[in-house]
Amino acid sequence: MDRDQMLARARQILQTNDRGGYTVPTQGLYPFQWNWDSCLTALGLQHLDPHRAWVEVETLMAHQWEDGMVPHIVFHEPSDSYFPGPEVWQTRRPTPTSGITQPPVLGLVLEQLWQRGDRSPATQARCQALMASADRWHAWFHRCRDPQGTGLVALLHPWESGRDNSCDWDSALAAVPAEGIGPYRRRDTQHVDAAQRPTQFEYDRYVALLECFRALGWDNSRTHDASPFRVVDPGFNAILIHSDQALGRLALEFGMGDLAAACQSRTSRGLRALGGLWSDAHGQFLPLDRCTGQLVASPSVGGLLPVLVLEPGPRQDALVSRLEDLLRKAPFGVASHDPDDARFDGRRYWRGPTWLIVNYLLIKGLRAHGQAQLADRIVDASLRCIERAGCSEYYHPVTGEALGGGKFTWTAAMVIEFLTRQPRAHAAVT
Ligand code: SER
Repeated sequence: MDRDQMLARARQILQTNDRGGYTVPTQGLYPFQWNWDSCLTALGLQHLDPHRAWVEVETLMAHQWEDGMVPHIVFHEPSDSYFPGPEVWQTRRPTPTSGITQPPVLGLVLEQLWQRGDRSPATQARCQALMASADRWHAWFHRCRDPQGTGLVALLHPWESGRDNSCDWDSALAAVPAEGIGPYRRRDTQHVDAAQRPTQFEYDRYVALLECFRALGWDNSRTHDASPFRVVDPGFNAILIHSDQALGRLALEFGMGDLAAACQSRTSRGLRALGGLWSDAHGQFLPLDRCTGQLVASPSVGGLLPVLVLEPGPRQDALVSRLEDLLRKAPFGVASHDPDDARFDGRRYWRGPTWLIVNYLLIKGLRAHGQAQLADRIVDASLRCIERAGCSEYYHPVTGEALGGGKFTWTAAMVIEFLTRQPRAHAAVT
């Protein structure tokens, strides 16, 4: 497949999955609007239709809760091909939504949309309206997910991380009681081989957490302290800090002094606190289980995502070495979990497979911090997956096998991003 064929396929997928105002991640498996999927998809849409790219995020943000949270799923249209649907969440929203959130990539996406757009006054007004919503979301994180003011926010559900069944959550999830949950039927394994999805043990606990927060009426002033699962993910926090930095830069450009100051204060506290998650033994950051107070020894890609926000120095160098090492072990992209760890499973969702959107975030961090060569290698590896197997949800990092859902929106968006926005990406594909 050459560059033009890859681009044509990717464009076609974005069009096929477009529901008019929002894009589903893929048909069947994910039939609604997902939060970070949509934001990252906007980057690809911008290439096809800049107006449509803004609409994608505007549609998502129209469903922001009054307290500032942005839900991880918006159930625009009914569909029985997904569990858990709106009747399980029972969040009582005008348009049904889930009751948890997802990685806040909106800020970094807004900066890209603005910088690469027409920069007209009308576009600036759109951007500023979304910036105000992003600010309310970020403030919500710090208020509701960091009530002690540590500088770092906790996830209350593995789905919030976006890396649902990562080994990072194993110990914290095992401590979640799941005896009393109601009966349910999974739908995901009707679409995808069960060996590529989370286990039943994990699903029981996903449901138990949902039921716990539902019993609290989705009151975000209570869920943090009541949750049996509270994990501080370095990857998630790095994304939040990076997005806040992007928001702060935009605020300065637009003369929004108060917003710039708020971003500056959140990011400097976050960056200071992030240092507490560093492990010399692992050469990377580790998650913190806020219920036990212990760092979790899990060599996953979550602990490498702080390349987005670290300044040059020994820790950034260590993360670069870890990424180089992972690419040596797995030529089709950065493995979501270290292949040398006993828990690595190259086909099972977030326990080993490579994901183009994570590669994108790593590439962004590497390019911003003087590591263009390594960034290029990750672009090349990502495009090798596409050449071999088309736009799937995720890929085996050692063999390049296509895994999960097919014709996948955000993968297609990243293909467009890599082929049109990254300087030497297309030269690498021969
Ligand atoms: N990723 C989750 C799922 O697989 C939910 O966001 O359903």
